[in-house]
Amino acid sequence: MSGFPQVRLRRLRSTEALRRMVRETSVNVNDLIYPLFVAHGKGLKEEIRSMPGCCHFSLDTLAAEAKEIAELGLPAIILFGLPASKDEVASEAYASNGIVQEAIRVVKDAVPDLVVVTDVCLCEYTSHGHCGVIVKGQVDNDRSLELIARTALSHAEAGADIVAPSDMMDGRVAALRSALDGNGFQSTPIMSYAAKYASAFYGPFREAAESTPQFGDRRGYQMDPPNVREALREVEQDIQEGADIIMVKPALAYLDVISKVRATWNHPVAAYNVSGEYAMVKAAARNGWLEEERVTLEILTAIKRAGADIILTYHAKDAARWLGR
Ligand code: PBG
Repeated sequence: MSGFPQVRLRRLRSTEALRRMVRETSVNVNDLIYPLFVAHGKGLKEEIRSMPGCCHFSLDTLAAEAKEIAELGLPAIILFGLPASKDEVASEAYASNGIVQEAIRVVKDAVPDLVVVTDVCLCEYTSHGHCGVIVKGQVDNDRSLELIARTALSHAEAGADIVAPSDMMDGRVAALRSALDGNGFQSTPIMSYAAKYASAFYGPFREAAESTPQFGDRRGYQMDPPNVREALREVEQDIQEGADIIMVKPALAYLDVISKVRATWNHPVAAYNVSGEYAMVKAAARNGWLEEERVTLEILTAIKRAGADIILTYHAKDAARWLGR
């Protein structure tokens, strides 16, 4: 009894009820984090051209959106900000009345139970668009750490539940942990973008967040796409520095990385289903080339099957509706 014809794997596929019983992976609304872009201004709820279905919100339209997200059963959002002005040292990133700091207050006030994660990075706030401070034409790692830590602390002070550094400087998790702990935020978790690649899949996001580097690119700090062993070193480093949740980004072209990280560590693993992955599905669906719902759920399931516990995705609201039916 070791093979065909006694063994027939199709037996357990013959009805939907049987398939449900032996299904190994399922995506749940609890797994998803919805990214939100917040900008200055009034009455703003403007669709992002390169990311159909996603909008820029102003502080006065944000509360209603947060309520809608919570009502869909989504547990969390991640906030990105578009500042009023940019400068060399990313001043608005850590201003107590910066756009993200204000947005945190609005959301926590409107929906206290919705988990507010903040993306901690300088690139949306620097005039040059890089994720750190420029010294002699290069992003200076150690000088950037202080500003990144200040940014995270200002988010915690405004009420953020989780801070998520995405800059890929060495030592940023330790810098954040010590800034948080030194100011009474020992309980604020860090979700680190531990293995974040220098990916072309961020294209639509950079348009949405106005964070395209004005010279050069991010290859000097974000990871080289061909590398996977290095990803494990990045993750190990962040765990040693105190990261609570580790993230792999992007997700779809990096499922092997997610899988290896999952196999190596027991920490919760997050994966970022990034803007370019989203835009591809939306564009194909609009052309009638793909079935949006099935493709989206298949992608999210694949990311989960690879080993992610948490998925940051622009599909979160749609997926919550589809999963809730
Ligand atoms: C900020 C940041 C980026 C993304 C998340 N945080 C852009 C980048 O690194 O260039 C990308 C998100 C996406 O593409 O959906 N550093």
